[in-house]
Amino acid sequence: MHVRLGVNVDHVATLRQARGTLYPDPVTAASLAEMAGADQVTLHLREDRRHIQERDLRLMRQTVTTRLNLEMAATQEMLKLAFEHKPDTVTLVPERREELTTEGGLDVAMQRDALKRFVRSLQDADIFTSLFIDPDLDQVRAAHKVDAQAVELHTGKYCEARDHKERSLEMQRLTDSAKAAHKLGMRVYAGHGLHYHNVQPLLDIVEIEEYNIGHSIIGRAVLVGMETAVRDMVAILRRTAR
Ligand code: PXP
Repeated sequence: MHVRLGVNVDHVATLRQARGTLYPDPVTAASLAEMAGADQVTLHLREDRRHIQERDLRLMRQTVTTRLNLEMAATQEMLKLAFEHKPDTVTLVPERREELTTEGGLDVAMQRDALKRFVRSLQDADIFTSLFIDPDLDQVRAAHKVDAQAVELHTGKYCEARDHKERSLEMQRLTDSAKAAHKLGMRVYAGHGLHYHNVQPLLDIVEIEEYNIGHSIIGRAVLVGMETAVRDMVAILRRTAR
């Protein structure tokens, strides 16, 4: 089994929303990503609809042929939309209106009972459920207690580390959390802030089976095209890059 790539197409929608045009279409980007070897398409329908719209979710559900991973906040509005559109996976993320992007992981331990009910509702609808958490052993254990099938480890701090010492510390936290989650029987994914250079050392953490990457791929796609940008990342994850 190879390490899987989920391509997050939110920022194609960011460019579209900046002018209120019909282009560029994240639905087209999703198809191109799949043709270039992506294993999954990821999209985040935010409460404030700043990039992805419900129309994008509806059309991607009809056109994505690999797997569709919907990132969303644990709210009743989003639960209804998940039931309606049936993505393959839901990744529960924290959401604050004023944030630039998803700045930290879910505090699962703080909202255990509510999250447990939420995860159960999604699983009853046959939707695989992952929780986006910081690489922290307490959060990993809490995710297991609410019956999450997977955790996506937040790699933001690792990506922002300013020196070797900080980076090694974050790498260790990711390694320990990945091992603990795997041991508890959960699937382990990772994402946030990853680009063509900083993702490579993480590939030594064999428990991580999927990466969800958006900004760096879309940023490169603007210059070299979507297919090349996705293929370059696929080659790195499969360790076939020259
Ligand atoms: N995974 C999750 C759960 C996210 O919230 C995001 C950001 O939307 C990503 C992955 C992708 O992050 P980036 O755009 O920095 O690659």
